[in-house]
Amino acid sequence: SDAFWRLPCYSRLGVFRIDPIVSRGAPSTHAHTLHGAQNLNFKSTYYDLLSSSCTSCAVLQDMSAYWTPPLMFYHLNGTIDIVPQVGGMLIYYHLFGENIKAFPIGFEMVAGDAGRRSASTLLTDNTTQTALAQRAVGFTCLDYKATAKAEGALERHHLPHKSIIDSKCTDGLRLELMFPSCWDGTSVATHDHKSHVAYPHLVREGKCPDGFESRLPALYYETVWNTAAFRDIDGHFLLSNGDHRGYSYHGDFQNGWDTDVLQRAINNCRNSLGLIDDCKEFSLQSPSKASRCTLATPAILANESCIGPQARLCGN
Ligand SMILES: *[C@@H]1O[C@H](CO)[C@@H](O)[C@H](O)[C@H]1NC(C)=O
Ligand SMILES: *[C@@H]1O[C@H](CO)[C@@H](O)[C@H](O)[C@H]1NC(C)=O
Ligand SMILES: *[C@@H]1O[C@H](CO)[C@@H](O)[C@H](O)[C@H]1NC(C)=O
Repeated sequence: SDAFWRLPCYSRLGVFRIDPIVSRGAPSTHAHTLHGAQNLNFKSTYYDLLSSSCTSCAVLQDMSAYWTPPLMFYHLNGTIDIVPQVGGMLIYYHLFGENIKAFPIGFEMVAGDAGRRSASTLLTDNTTQTALAQRAVGFTCLDYKATAKAEGALERHHLPHKSIIDSKCTDGLRLELMFPSCWDGTSVATHDHKSHVAYPHLVREGKCPDGFESRLPALYYETVWNTAAFRDIDGHFLLSNGDHRGYSYHGDFQNGWDTDVLQRAINNCRNSLGLIDDCKEFSLQSPSKASRCTLATPAILANESCIGPQARLCGN
């Protein structure tokens, strides 16, 4: 019942102000680290993604797009750099519950709230979607040689202070995002990009709320950032939207799956170790081939680099 697979996106396509879900048709207000299908652009649709010539992720029948804000570093003199991203994005497809449906054609959703700047007081509540959504965001220090117990995923819901990052995140900081997996069963998209889906009562798994009884794969994004590159350098970490506390961490999913393949994988690939190679429904490509899939700079963004060093955040 706890079957899942880990889908690696071996590298990012690029870092640009692109978000066809929230900022459709125009550059988004802040930069995203983009993964998946190469046809991702300001107004890409399911069919655009499907006709991509490549994906930076492992499965050739998955032309989905996956993106989040990158982690940035603000030097005391005002210069901003992106934090080096370790690899691309690791996406877990968890299969919780019965009768899980493949994401339908045109399906898209956002998890997290780009406008949030503090935690709500009811963070421990298990009944409100607002509280569950905030617990779906995580910042975990990585220290592979640690003798103490490793930090658990989704336990810290904000960016740790730089002194904690410097002392504890020897192998970097992992940014985590769990998506809602309960669905209204009909809508593929909604005006706020979220009200067609809901979290089960334990965020990852659990009971779905009334009206959202259909189950989708429970997506979980991980990106790792080499914060150690800024150890003992004065300044602070922040997200690309200017949030230096991390409460606004968020991410987007735009479906680009061959839906029949995804449904067969949901039905047949019940590996409890998450090994994607064990799923016979998938055609896999090599990490080196996936990593050659990149996005060209859109002409309208020709004069900005979101990588840095920058005098201001891209999108200001
Ligand atoms: C600010 O400091 C950083 C790190 O020392 C340096 O790379 C950058 O060139 C400086 N920027 C300016 C405008 O002096
Ligand atoms: C509420 O959520 C927490 C954290 O997910 C969990 O440990 C606890 O068992 C939940 N409480 C109930 C009553 O389900
Ligand atoms: C980029 O900068 C060049 C040189 O300043 C300018 O001619 C061009 O119009 C700019 N392009 C855009 C898309 O802003």
